[in-house]
Amino acid sequence: MAVVTTIERISKYVDQDVTIKGWLFNKRSSGKIQFLQIRDGSGFIQGVVVKNDVDPEIFERCKTITQESSIVVTGCVRADDRAPSGFELTVKDVEVVAIAQEYPISLKEHGTDFLMDHRHLWIRTPKQHAVLRIRDEINRAIRDFFHERDFVLVEPPIITPASCEGTTELFEIDYFGQNAYLSQTGQLYAEAAAMAFGKVYSFGPTFRAEKSKTRKHLNEFWMVEPEMAYVDFEGNLKIQEDMVEYIVQRVLENRKMELKTLERNTESLEKVKAPFPRITYTDAVKLLQDNGFQFEWGDDFGAPHETFIAEQYEKPVFITHFPTKMKAFYMQPDPDNPEVILGADLIAPEGYGEIIGGSQRIHDLDLILHKLEEEKLPKEIYEWYIDLRRYGSVPHSGYGLGLERTVAWLCGIDHIRQTIPFARTLNRVYP
Ligand code: 4AD
Ligand code: MG
Repeated sequence: MAVVTTIERISKYVDQDVTIKGWLFNKRSSGKIQFLQIRDGSGFIQGVVVKNDVDPEIFERCKTITQESSIVVTGCVRADDRAPSGFELTVKDVEVVAIAQEYPISLKEHGTDFLMDHRHLWIRTPKQHAVLRIRDEINRAIRDFFHERDFVLVEPPIITPASCEGTTELFEIDYFGQNAYLSQTGQLYAEAAAMAFGKVYSFGPTFRAEKSKTRKHLNEFWMVEPEMAYVDFEGNLKIQEDMVEYIVQRVLENRKMELKTLERNTESLEKVKAPFPRITYTDAVKLLQDNGFQFEWGDDFGAPHETFIAEQYEKPVFITHFPTKMKAFYMQPDPDNPEVILGADLIAPEGYGEIIGGSQRIHDLDLILHKLEEEKLPKEIYEWYIDLRRYGSVPHSGYGLGLERTVAWLCGIDHIRQTIPFARTLNRVYP
């Protein structure tokens, strides 16, 4: 009896018979031999059907199998250095579960709009499959990183009564006759949780009604947001660089096949080891000005600026001490120079831009009240947040890492819409 297994576990069964439950990805034939490209979700493998070695009925049946038909294949596993996976299957039997109709995604080139319209099918193809497997690895690495360090996972609400990050860019919903919003960040709730559990992280979808059509923006994206009591600006950067190193090294270790499928040059990723370089916002402005950029202190970086700054380094770089006026109300001003905040953005190499935004938070009651007033934020709705400064307030810090931008960087792909199973962008809510 053949063992039922999956393609990713096939190395354990060399020279043994196995059964794989999957789909026909592609097929070619040379008369007496048919080559079936089989996928089962865990990987891709070539099945070889030799006319003289199988039942004539099975050989004929294989000819009728169309692209993406579901099939159960039994065969003997052979080690083969030429195969991308290192293995091949000498097919002995093929059972057809369902013959697929003519498949819309052929193996030739298609336009991006067509592929995005068929995203539900596109994710079956090797490159998209590799991207989403890497996404899964990053997800797991993040959870392992925090749990190994005793962080507690807390889930902030997705429906919020007020803006959590800025007043624009909100998706408004009708909450039984009251205005409510889809959350832009879980941070404020994570701060409450940090005062209850010490070290916490939230990891969930966030929503921004940004009308930007760039290759770095989604309207629904996932963010991991740690928040830590008794941690200051320095401690905050330390955990960020440790986490990013951990994620990158895990993907390099466990997703070699997928990185190869994506033709990702991994040399730059190997270098991602803590500590990371830092530059202050003020020095970054000088750097840009010295290199011919029209840029004033107080301006926000655009993609060309971020890319230029990142190119000065081999690793991700922290840009620290942004102008207080540019950043969110909750960021702690630097006591030595209140014009700038004790926060940083982490810029990925190779033009992938900002992957993390974070800061120490204001813990002083009067200062947070003053900031809310300055930003004209409705105090009543933030009462609970102000309470955190009334009852046992401590210096605390946190940050948010954008999952999709991290996936894009590690995969080396040019557009963020391919880094999430079903992207939500300015012009797309289908499928
Ligand atoms: O810098 P942001 O806006 O920071 C916050 O929301 C903080 N409250 C996080 C915190 O301190 N807990 O967003 C954090 C990260 C960015 O660095 C970026 O990686 C990602 O979220 N991001 C987006 N990713 C995809 N599409 C968008 N529209 C994004 N906006 C932000
Ligand atoms: Mg930011």
